[in-house]
Amino acid sequence: MTDQTPALRLEGIVKTFPGVRALDGVSFSVLPGEVHALMGENGAGKSTLMKVLGGIYQPDEGRIFIAERETVMNNPLEAKANGVMFIHQELSLAEELSVAENIYLGELPLRRFGVVDWATLYARTDAILEKLKVGFNARTVVGSLSIANQQMVEIARALTVDAKAVIFDEPTASLTDSEKVVLFDVIADLQAQGVGIIYISHRMEEIFKITDRISVLRDGEYRGTLATAETNEDEVTQLMIGRSLDLSRNTAPVELGPVALRVEGLSCGSLFNDATFEVREGEVLGFYGLVGAGRTEIAETLFGLRTPTSGRIMLKGEEVTITSPIDAIAKGISLVPESRKEQGLVLGMNCRDNMTLPQVSDLRAGPFVAEGAEISIYDQYRDRLQIKAPSWRTTVGNLSGGNQQKIVIGKWLSMRPEVLIVDEPTRGIDVGSKSEIHNLLRDLAAQGYAVIVISSEMPEVLHVSDRIVAMYNGRIMREFSAAEVTEDNLIQAISGIANEAA
Ligand SMILES: Nc1ncnc2c1ncn2[C@@H]1O[C@H](COP(=O)(O)OP(=O)(O)OP(=O)(O)O)[C@@H](O)[C@H]1O
Ligand SMILES: [Mg+2]
Repeated sequence: MTDQTPALRLEGIVKTFPGVRALDGVSFSVLPGEVHALMGENGAGKSTLMKVLGGIYQPDEGRIFIAERETVMNNPLEAKANGVMFIHQELSLAEELSVAENIYLGELPLRRFGVVDWATLYARTDAILEKLKVGFNARTVVGSLSIANQQMVEIARALTVDAKAVIFDEPTASLTDSEKVVLFDVIADLQAQGVGIIYISHRMEEIFKITDRISVLRDGEYRGTLATAETNEDEVTQLMIGRSLDLSRNTAPVELGPVALRVEGLSCGSLFNDATFEVREGEVLGFYGLVGAGRTEIAETLFGLRTPTSGRIMLKGEEVTITSPIDAIAKGISLVPESRKEQGLVLGMNCRDNMTLPQVSDLRAGPFVAEGAEISIYDQYRDRLQIKAPSWRTTVGNLSGGNQQKIVIGKWLSMRPEVLIVDEPTRGIDVGSKSEIHNLLRDLAAQGYAVIVISSEMPEVLHVSDRIVAMYNGRIMREFSAAEVTEDNLIQAISGIANEAA
């Protein structure tokens, strides 16, 4: 392996932004046919390094070699011409255009007189989509696709060129299990063709399943490379954050208060049916199921984003009708939604203003802006969530993906709701901060909040929940106490098997 010419080699890459040394002399290389993980805490510099490689940023110092030839890439098209393809963490598609147009943007096949050759365009696109086994076609408008499918479009785009290196920046964050299988097949194909792959993810199981080596960044510095087969999660975590983590299951007994929220026979068209459950003050209720099982739709109904077709919602024993999110917030229910795009972050606004946005009218009573109050809210949640930003004035759009997620969580937590619903709260969050967020959710429960955690990550639901509701196909299949739940019976319940067995 060592005498192979690297597909890609970076030497002493430095990149600074105002107030941040995002990359501080990073060197590492990727071999052809290798899946190379890039790991590090939120804000460690992973995406920045990949943007340097993808021609999006120019490094302040350092050199890039592709197949040992020094290469300067001034923009993404030049990167593509050099065989470097980039699947972004934040989707970057033109929503009003078709799938085909997005995939071949800037390189549409033309007929004479510069007319787009639509037949060829669609045929080429459909051939690639077929490989990816997706349920849409070349003509589908991108804006109508789910986030997971938009991700597949980005992946399709990477397959149109003869790539030497393909970068996947957190590609599985919003994929279902079956979509992940397809993605891993695609990666294995690329690998077999000798493409060097850089794979960024915070999910350890994936890293250990598909990668050959792991390189770690910490605060913009290169910390070393480990052979995946010769290391373990603990060693990687140590290298990333400088300490080990306690990832044990939640077994602490809790003092439960009265029922905060009770839902009876709640249905919403074909999205979910006859949902009955309750959550008490002091309790964390986990919702586990496959993507599409109806968990998010229940949360959206409780938050006034959907109107139920039947059933009752009771808050502290009193039946309520929730007409809008504003109404939900007034009644004490908050929802941290799953998609970062819908989380109401204003990317051009600073960190503090994003966090205090829902409360601004309260904080800014009268003509004077209560700056101090806003900054102290920001400071408090920055510390609790370990948000990494140069200052509260930093534009949220310039934060790393995980830190943007933390701003969203801080925003809803700072409203001190009675019932807090979090949907996939740690998507894109590094292992260290993940356990901080888990602890924070447990702390909130201990303070008397009723917390509902929706998650597709089994270790997460097992770790934070006092009780777990398993959903399948719009229905609640089973409810488990923390004591009785096992990985096996949970998997059975969310695959629709448990019912027959019970
Ligand atoms: N355009 C920019 N302007 C200013 N600062 C930036 C910009 N892009 C990134 N940064 C800063 O550079 C640092 C590295 O960010 P980067 O996005 O590379 O982190 P990351 O390792 O990808 O994190 P995550 O796991 O959260 O995605 C962060 O402190 C970030 O705020
Ligand atoms: Mg990133």
